[in-house]
Amino acid sequence: MQSTKEINFDLHGDMRGKLIALEANNQIPFEIKRIFYIYDTADNCIRGCHANRKSEFVIISVSGSVSVKIHDGKETSIFTLDKPDKGLYTPKMSWKEMYNFSSDCVLLVLSNYSYDANEYIRNFDEFIKESREL
Ligand code: TYD
Repeated sequence: MQSTKEINFDLHGDMRGKLIALEANNQIPFEIKRIFYIYDTADNCIRGCHANRKSEFVIISVSGSVSVKIHDGKETSIFTLDKPDKGLYTPKMSWKEMYNFSSDCVLLVLSNYSYDANEYIRNFDEFIKESREL
């Protein structure tokens, strides 16, 4: 089974500025089926607070910064996303909480799976229970 990991993307910089290119099954370790982005987040807001039975994600702060807490069913890890050339890969069955959004944070999220509310687990106890059954 895959585990949560940070991914450092190649930065193509020159005198004009910077560019990062992301391709499926290359920098992004899956076929991309869905893209969404989160911005204008309210002060002190915590987003996420769910796990996914089928969706894997790569989360990138393309502007600003955010903290991400991941629980893999056994332990908690905390990551800071504060630059566009770093992504956080989260496998399915990862509990995710995003907080400490800077006011300029734009959080880009890529996923291997189209949106389906039924594959979201929004209760932490249920997540732990299903994790143990894997
Ligand atoms: P929600 O899952 O609550 O966001 P977060 O993970 O940041 O807490 O989603 C907010 C709304 O957006 C909800 O009505 C469902 C909708 N939504 C989609 O339609 N497609 C998507 O891919 C996502 C992530 C959310």
